[in-house]
Formats: sequence, structure tokens, C-alpha cells
Amino acid sequence: MASNEDSIRLEVTRYRPDGDSEPQLQEYDVPLRREWTVLDGLNHVKDEVDTTLSFRWSCRMGICGSCGMNVDGEPKLTCATFLSDYAPGPIRVEPLSNFPIIRDLVVDIDDFMQKLPKVSPWIIRDDDVTEIDGEYLQTPEELDAYKQFSMCINCMLCYAACPVYGLDPEFMGPAAIALAERYDLDSRDHGARERLDVLIEHEGVWGCTFVGECTTVCPKHVDPAGAIQRYKLKAAKENVKAFVLPRFLQ
Ligand code: SF4
Ligand code: FES
Repeated sequence: MASNEDSIRLEVTRYRPDGDSEPQLQEYDVPLRREWTVLDGLNHVKDEVDTTLSFRWSCRMGICGSCGMNVDGEPKLTCATFLSDYAPGPIRVEPLSNFPIIRDLVVDIDDFMQKLPKVSPWIIRDDDVTEIDGEYLQTPEELDAYKQFSMCINCMLCYAACPVYGLDPEFMGPAAIALAERYDLDSRDHGARERLDVLIEHEGVWGCTFVGECTTVCPKHVDPAGAIQRYKLKAAKENVKAFVLPRFLQ
């Protein structure tokens, strides 16, 4: 039997690049406590059984976005995923899919970090307003327009769930596009055209086949799939405009 009443078995990916030719699973039995998350189980292993186990975490509150892993094949924040939901186990804990493994459960997200600045995820102004001219005020309605898209914690669960990113790493991917939409919807921003020029390219929004898994797995309800569809609409309108309007009217 994989586990007894008071414990649950974790099947954890181990990969040490200096010695292993490929990742392997290692089993650990951890206490099955009602309030314990998968991250608590991993920390138990690290503290009590094997100090060499490597994984990322920080806040333990679903805020920092660093503890994402595949739990029984699904991308999850391990600090918000309870062991008891998987009883009697075993529970398979693996690194997020679609990223190279650095070590054990730690993945390399450099690809995302390089793509993110391409969509200019900051406020762009087309005037020269300075701090001395005062603040940019917003109404609650203007804040609501982009708030959902501003909740992203860069946890990368959406990239791990995205079959298109898995097949085509050039695809900009869900979170970067959702962040572009977040700034487009901000009443203080004038950078929508600039972002659209990037996302209208083949590797921008067009690769998405609207599987929708990114939105399903997002722990912050950001709805990246919705952002991608909105961008497709904007890009399609641009293409129509370019086709029917003379250049000086575009
Ligand atoms: S969009 Fe959601 S799943 Fe994707 S990185 Fe942001 S918070 Fe994580
Ligand atoms: S440890 Fe910060 S989100 Fe899980």
C-alpha cells in the first residue's frame, strides 16, 4: 500500500544535472495532516529526510508565484494545494511542464523573462507629463477595467498548461499577453498601438488555438485566454483597416 492512515506518499522528481542523465521519481512518505499543503510536505522532506531536494517557494500565501509545480499532472501552486485532497495518495509532484529543468523541481523561466519586456508591461505616455504636474487620477470604474488582468503573479502555471507553448516555444504565451492587455486597458496608458505591433506578429497571439487551459489553471482568475481573444479581435480589425483604408487614414 502506498500510504497508511497518518501519512501520504509523495513521488517527487529528482534531477541533478551534474550526475543524472534524466529525471527520476523518488518516493517519500510525509505526515498527512489536514492543514498541510503539498509545499508543507516538500518542506518536511527537505527538513527531516533529504536536505538536497530543491524547489522554489517564498510566501506560502499564494502571492509570490514561486511554488508552481505539477501535482498529479496539473499545474498548481503547491502552497495552496492540500495533501488531504489527494488522500490516500500517492501524489506525484513534478516540475512545471514546458520549461527546462534546472534541478529537481526548479525550472528555468528565462524564456518568459525575455519575452515579457517585448510587450512593454508598463505605462507608456505620448505626452511629457512629469511628477511636478501631479498624479494620474483614476475613477473606480477605470480601475475595474484592468484590475482582473493586474492580478497576475507570474506563477507560470498557464505556460505549463498551454499545449501551444509546449509545441512552439516562440509563442509569446498567456501571461505576457494578459499583461499587455492589463496596460492597454489602463486609462493612463497610450501604448496600445506599440503592443499590438508586437502581438500581431505570427508568434504573438495567432498561435493560440483557444484551448483555454491557461484560464482554467490560473490561480488568480486572470483569464489570459480572454485577453488573447481580445487581441485577436484587435489584430483582425487592424488588418481589415489596412486593407480597406488608404494609408493616410489609418
Ligand atoms: S496569468 Fe495566471 S497562471 Fe498565468 S502567470 Fe499569471 S497568475 Fe499565473
Ligand atoms: S509560496 Fe508564494 S505563491 Fe506559493
